[in-house]
Amino acid sequence: MSDMPAGVAAVIVLAAGGGTRMKSTKSKLLHQIGGRSLLGWALDTAVSVQPERLVVVVGQMGDQVESHLDEIAPTAIRALQESPRGTGHAVQCGLEALGEIAGEIVVTYGDVPMLSGRALNDLVSAHREDGNAVTVLTAMVDDPTGYGRIVRDGETVAQIVEERDASDDQRGIREINAGIYVFDAATLSEGLARLRDDNAQGELYLTDVVAYARSRGRRVGAQIEPDVWQTMGVNDRVQLAAMNREMNRRIVRDWMLAGVTVIDPATTWIDKSVSLAPDVEIWPDTFLRGATTVAEGAILGPGTRLTDVEVGRDAQVLRSEATLATIGPGAVVGPFSYIRPGTELGPKGKIGAFVETKNARLGVGTKVPHLSYCGDAVVGDGTNIGAGTIFANFDSVHKHHTTVGAHSFVGSDSVLVAPVEIGDGAFVAAGSVITGPVAAGELGVARGRQRNVAGWVERKWPGTKAAAAAHAAGAAGQDQPSSDQS
Ligand code: UD1
Ligand code: CA
Repeated sequence: MSDMPAGVAAVIVLAAGGGTRMKSTKSKLLHQIGGRSLLGWALDTAVSVQPERLVVVVGQMGDQVESHLDEIAPTAIRALQESPRGTGHAVQCGLEALGEIAGEIVVTYGDVPMLSGRALNDLVSAHREDGNAVTVLTAMVDDPTGYGRIVRDGETVAQIVEERDASDDQRGIREINAGIYVFDAATLSEGLARLRDDNAQGELYLTDVVAYARSRGRRVGAQIEPDVWQTMGVNDRVQLAAMNREMNRRIVRDWMLAGVTVIDPATTWIDKSVSLAPDVEIWPDTFLRGATTVAEGAILGPGTRLTDVEVGRDAQVLRSEATLATIGPGAVVGPFSYIRPGTELGPKGKIGAFVETKNARLGVGTKVPHLSYCGDAVVGDGTNIGAGTIFANFDSVHKHHTTVGAHSFVGSDSVLVAPVEIGDGAFVAAGSVITGPVAAGELGVARGRQRNVAGWVERKWPGTKAAAAAHAAGAAGQDQPSSDQS
């Protein structure tokens, strides 16, 4: 076992900016990449440095952010920054929520989702090894526009200058401030107490704590993160899409390296929360979301979206949509199936073309192959539901349940009007409207008996091609009696 380094005293996650440039009624922090909110990613990384306390500074759209926190991080401390007066002010609000504190304080942003636990832990390690008062995460970028520039003094950092306050020379610096830091608590609180807003934006700049630390002769270090994506924030939907694609590229790549075949990584979207076994094969235009799990040998897509679905070994899902369902081992779904919550397809079962299911348990080897609706039902093993069968579960007020036994056979174009029960080894004649029970071994027939009227065509449509064809075929004359057929 490796030695676990001690955790930090606190992480303060800045999340008080609403994200005006998203042009959204939803807080920027709730928008998602890789199937998880920006804030969710940020908190995951924050806890990786094992903070004794975790503070999230909320402000704009704070109600939304707080209710999201209730779901994903109920124990996180919330600090309120009533109006956005700058990053320094935001951290002051976070510190106030912490009270007396000593040790290391990490500051991160809620809108920098790709920062990894590895990078943040490295930053903490560098801070400790170098005995720094402040350690800042930086990146070398081609276009530093908009970022704070790292002004170096040899190995250490002299100051961080914001774009709008920078000289022309300083603007040429390509090393930028990612906004992720480790601070010694005393240096941070002393530095924050001395912040002034006499700068181009009239804000309290957290970055000025660096110059303060230097003025007291304390060490300030910078750690360059080579993976620039990890240092980038999301400000608008163009950046959100770019980051989502990059996150997805990494997730898909990791699954390929773990043994999953992906025909077209560019059109395969896999949430971080999904779990796949080796030898799963994914065809283009497929979306795997939420708590979806897929067992070995399953083939998914093309054109398939699964949300919270459990797919069994060697199953196949082709051009279909499924949510909150289980698809048994060796089962086949699609093309064009719509599988709604509560569907449980048994091993080797089939839900075929243009079939919709909901809250339906289908047994081992049971098939609903074509053009059916199957809702609120339990169907036993080895049963075949004929083409076009409708489980009529809704009487306009209530939903009702249908049971079909094992090794039964429901003929095509039947309607099973729930509540209704069909026994084991029972048959339903094609085209029946079943309103009462069919017991084991019985045939239920519920439709008009066939009646043929002899000579009808020649009588009704004399002189037509149909009448001539009937005559040539030796059709019975008009005196013949009608017959009934079963
Ligand atoms: C800040 C840094 C800059 C750095 C950049 C990286 C300062 C003064 N500048 O820029 O050097 O290159 O981040 O992205 O720190 N926030 C609050 N309350 C506020 C202001 C900001 O919570 O009053 C939060 C925002 O929600 C966001 C983060 O802090 O998550 C950064 O804010 P933003 O305005 O994007 O950064 P800048 O101040 O422009
Ligand atoms: Ca920003």
